[in-house]
Parts: sequence; C-alpha cells; structure tokens
Amino acid sequence: MAGILVVDDTPEIRLLLDRLLTQEGHTVRQAAHGEAALAAVAQAVPDLVLLDVMMPGMDGFEVCRRLKRMEETRLVPVVLLTAQRERESRLKGLEAGADDYLNKPFDRLELLVRVRNLCRIRSLTDRLEDSRNVIYSLARAIEARDAYTEGHTERVAGYAVALGGALGLSETDLQWIEQGAVLHDVGKIGIRDSILNKPGPLTPDEYEQMKTHSAIGEHICKSLKSLAPILDIIRHHQERIDGKGYPDGLTGERMSVGARIVALVDAFDAMTSDRPYRKRLERAEAVRRLREGAGTQWDARMVEAFVGWLDAHPEVVEKKE
Ligand SMILES: [Fe+2]
Repeated sequence: MAGILVVDDTPEIRLLLDRLLTQEGHTVRQAAHGEAALAAVAQAVPDLVLLDVMMPGMDGFEVCRRLKRMEETRLVPVVLLTAQRERESRLKGLEAGADDYLNKPFDRLELLVRVRNLCRIRSLTDRLEDSRNVIYSLARAIEARDAYTEGHTERVAGYAVALGGALGLSETDLQWIEQGAVLHDVGKIGIRDSILNKPGPLTPDEYEQMKTHSAIGEHICKSLKSLAPILDIIRHHQERIDGKGYPDGLTGERMSVGARIVALVDAFDAMTSDRPYRKRLERAEAVRRLREGAGTQWDARMVEAFVGWLDAHPEVVEKKE
C-alpha cells in the first residue's frame, strides 16, 4: 500500500480523501496549502500526491511544477484535483507535469481505481530506476578499476552530445546517444583486470578477449527493455566504416548514427588521454589522425563536423589537465 499526500485547502475534502484512502489501506498525510505540501514532501517523499489546483498562496500548478523539477520527486505521480473542466486548466496542468486529473466532486470508485493504477506505475518506475542505477553504477565501477580512464565515459558522453548536436540530431536522439556513450564500455566488467590494466600493448590473445567487451555490454543491458534504443551503440562502438571493426564487421551506414558517433569520439578521447604505456597526443595530432581515418575508420562527414566543433571549442582537451 502506498504513502499518499493529500493537499487541499478545504478541510472537509482532506478528511473525505483521508478516510477513503485509509480504508483502502494507504497511509495518508494531509497538507492545507502549497507550502505545507512542499514541507511534507521534504520530510518524506510520498508515492502519490493528490493536489488541489485552487488554493490561496501557491496554487496546485506551481506545487506540481516544483515537484516535477526536483530530482527526488520528479517521478512521483501527481493527480490534480479540479473543479474546472476547462481545457485551459487541463493544458496548464499538463504543462506543469501533472500525471492525471480528478474532477470534483469525486466519484469514489474512479478515485480508488486511479490511485491504484498510479501506485502500480510508481512501483514499476521505481524498479526500473533501480535496475538502471545498477547498470550506471557498473559503468562507474569499471571506470574506477582503471585510474587511467578516469573521466573517460563522462568526456565521451560530452563529445557525443556535442557531435550529435553539430549534426542536427533531435533532443531525444541526443539523450539516447548520451546514455549509449555513458554505457558503451559497460561490458569491460567481464574483462580480467590483468588485461584491462595491462601497462603495455595486449598480446593477440589478450586482444581477442578484450574484443568481447562490446557483446558482453550488450548482453548486460539487454535485460532492461528501457535500454533497447542504445543496445546497438554498445555492441557496435568498435566497428569501422570499412568493415574492419568488431564484433560484426559492419560497414558504412549499417552502423547506426549513434554507434558511428560514439566510435569516433571514444577514439578521440583515447588518443588525447595518457595511458600507462604512452603519453597522450597533442590535440592537433589527434585531429590529423581523425582526418586520416575519415572514410575508413570513421564516418567522414562526422569527422568534419567534430573537427568543426573542436575548432569552435579551443578549451576542450587542454582543460582536462
Ligand atoms: Fe569499447
């Protein structure tokens, strides 16, 4: 059963909702106005908020907007309680991020069904977030295993978004590419330390083992449906335009846009970072090598777009030290 916060300036309505929901087995807290609601949420995050729209002081739209802006509460479902049926106030509620509406006076059954459904969704998103967090923690743990790659995933994610932006990709695509970039090497969790941290070039046999990391990463992330859009980035970030990459030897545009982007910026960050057995390249030299590999290792159009972005950001790379 859920913890529900009821926010309404009318005591009778608070009491009515409290009684109904308590009978259903929920734990109910009450707040008489917007500020009290935010204070109650700060004390303990509820599973669901039933929120009156018209209240003196801060109205329900504003409370909703604030809840949806805060990291701890953005996923908590908010149901607006409204006497107004007008389209305008619904739109305003949607804009504020409300998840659902209930019209006053309440229909008892409708109320309970809505609450039940939203609580179910809430516990599902909780579980989903948990699994996502596990995978993101994995990515951080891998980075922590190797002092020399510190900050690598973060930089690769930053470059990937910058390049995607320069290529004119949509906001949604950029978000997926960012996630793919963060998780691209998650499969290294399956690679032995002696190989991962070897202070020198790998033997052919070790290299073969290292190459399995992209498929391992895909396998780990496959368990989460919500990561489906980035599986190809994880599996194919080591492919090459000329088909000489791994694991599938994809060529040209058979590599997705996301995989081509991450392949390029991952290589750039590797070139411009120190490794135990070699110093990092100067930025100009890294750019020269990118251009050299344009059309064979990397997408030529992307190389030019990325170099253009670098030209506009002379502080990049240098800042790292
Ligand atoms: Fe990789």
